[in-house]
Amino acid sequence: MSAHPKRYLVTSALPYANGLKHIGHLAGAYVPADIYVRYLRAQKRDVVFVCGSDEHGTAIPIQAMKEGTTAQAIIDKYHQAMKEDFQDLHISFDVYHRTSDPLHHETSQEFFTYLHQRGQLETKETEQYYDESSRTFLADRYIKGTCPHCKSDRAFGDQCESCGTALSPDELINPVSTISGAAPFKKKTTHWYLPLAQHESFLREWILNEHRQDWRATVVGQCKSWIEGGLQSRAVTRDLDWGVKVPLQEADGKVLYVWFDAPIGYISATRQWAQDTGKDWKPYWYDNDTQLVHFIGKDNIVFHCIIFPVMLKLHGNILPVNVPANEFLNLEGDKMSTSRNWKLDMRDYITDFVKKENGGDQCVDMLRYYLTQIAPETKDSEFTWKGFQDAVNNELVSIFGNYVNRTFVLMHKLCQGKVPTFHEDKSDALDAALVNDIQLAKERITACLEQYRFREGLFEVIDLARKGNKYMQEKEPWIVAKKVAAQPDQQGLIDNCLHHCLQLTANLAILAQPFLPGTSKKMCHMMKVVDRILDWEHAGSMKLLSVGYSLREPQLLFRKIEDAEITAQITKLKHAFMNDASSLPVSNEPGHLPLKPEIGIDDFSKIDLRTGIVLAAQKVPKADKLLQLEVDLGFEKRTILSGIALHFQPEEVVGKQVVVVTNLAPRKMRGIDSQGMILMAEDASGKLHFVQPSSMINGGSTVS
Ligand code: 2FM
Ligand code: ZN
Repeated sequence: MSAHPKRYLVTSALPYANGLKHIGHLAGAYVPADIYVRYLRAQKRDVVFVCGSDEHGTAIPIQAMKEGTTAQAIIDKYHQAMKEDFQDLHISFDVYHRTSDPLHHETSQEFFTYLHQRGQLETKETEQYYDESSRTFLADRYIKGTCPHCKSDRAFGDQCESCGTALSPDELINPVSTISGAAPFKKKTTHWYLPLAQHESFLREWILNEHRQDWRATVVGQCKSWIEGGLQSRAVTRDLDWGVKVPLQEADGKVLYVWFDAPIGYISATRQWAQDTGKDWKPYWYDNDTQLVHFIGKDNIVFHCIIFPVMLKLHGNILPVNVPANEFLNLEGDKMSTSRNWKLDMRDYITDFVKKENGGDQCVDMLRYYLTQIAPETKDSEFTWKGFQDAVNNELVSIFGNYVNRTFVLMHKLCQGKVPTFHEDKSDALDAALVNDIQLAKERITACLEQYRFREGLFEVIDLARKGNKYMQEKEPWIVAKKVAAQPDQQGLIDNCLHHCLQLTANLAILAQPFLPGTSKKMCHMMKVVDRILDWEHAGSMKLLSVGYSLREPQLLFRKIEDAEITAQITKLKHAFMNDASSLPVSNEPGHLPLKPEIGIDDFSKIDLRTGIVLAAQKVPKADKLLQLEVDLGFEKRTILSGIALHFQPEEVVGKQVVVVTNLAPRKMRGIDSQGMILMAEDASGKLHFVQPSSMINGGSTVS
């Protein structure tokens, strides 16, 4: 392997301090970064892991309005809450800073001044939306309207909540002020801009060169389409009273745009860390022998791969070596969303699992495990409670935990609780194969971690435990034990098996540590070894535990997740969603969604329901949830888009009899007219089922 850089600086996206963060955020930018950093630390490399709260932008005063309090109170509350949540989930930042800190204001103002003094920013007078009643220019989240791309009405001045497209206020259809609800008018204002087009050749050379093969294709693809789409100058200032003041006399009442100051927050956080530890922060941002890696979610790609790199280049800093951005994590068949309350907050998991029981630390690793196993590294993926239960019960408990437990139990039973000798003269091919497996696993896991392939790395860890189980099963020391009284030399075979099983256990503790730190710690306790054994260089050795050393009684590493826990969580999710999405009363009976208000027969008879047969089905490009169906109604064929793609493959649907609402007004989605709606039933676990007549009948039959 090539020589390593002198030092690493690893960043996780600074979360907005406007609310609690959910497990989609955790899976995207925090767990993978933490795995990477723990691995680097186990390699004894010089690494600093920085993060902090993003406390500026219009999202903060808007949240303050919602909660009837001040912006300061909001950031104080959520900064503290997020910091605690990360600690509870064992995300091991070296520093968790905040952008309201004076050190950050100073750092970002210096940065702006540096660019401004060197003529790197341009000023422009433009007309921008203004809300007369509040005397506020309507930037970003202060303005909403209809998305020009997907026609959703959940589009803001910076981004559409529905399709994720980055927007500017001018693109919104029917814009309104989120402060007063009134239609705004245009007013002149001057701002400072970063002229991205001037840096196009730098960006092309930096991102689109052949060395970028080690970057994720999704990241390079997004950058490419941004560059190809034409680079526009980006305003780096705003007319707002919440944020870092623009350090120029003529800029009274203006602040730095949150996306200008937030990434500089990585630098401020490093400075804070250096102050706290008596280190020098500068090499981490100026020395080319530093490897800078940003962990983010896909909605932040353009900021970390286009805009911030241009800022860093102009400011004389190093550039990131990689930006392993993750795609999105869906939840139980739908996009995770705070505004629609379809989410699992880290805090909820901590309360319901981690803090609920003694030794709740195992629950931290269970979540880290599942989030890594389903990490959206190359495409969107999905958290389901059933999937969580299966991953914990069938892998962590049945493979990893079971292997370690059996090893300890057998060692106490058959080897007096001590590490037995390995008798070379009795060793066989199975022993040699196990040693080989351990070494191979180390190589593979190392390669995965170096290349940010955490899913695969974790798979290799479990696979190694699986091989341990197989080895033990083939050696059957409990059967051999029955022969020992008559043939004492058989004890040598038992010793060899348990010796190897124990050395494998120690190896597993090392290799699992970046992913499951609490579990490795517990294993060290059981093996009566200090944490230093977890240094990566020790992995691959079969001499980790000394012969004759007595070990503790085993503790169960993981508990099973019961069906009732899963049902309770699904019910909770749906109730929270219903409570938030409408003012309907909540049913008192757990597990049932509340009923909608009463309607008359006239209302119902307006709906035209017919049977049909699905003739063809295909996925809709760039719409994870949609299938495009051709449905034969007997008297005509229709194209219908149905949000079932996360539940069914196209080929499963073809030939199905369905019930169609035929007189719904056609709706355009992704440029396709949907001419009806298919009826589906959803069970308690969130699984979808087609509503069908009990036997096949003619297409076009009426349903009433
Ligand atoms: O999307 C977000 O949550 C932003 N607050 C991320 C900022 S990352 C960095 F630039 F600070
Ligand atoms: Zn949209």
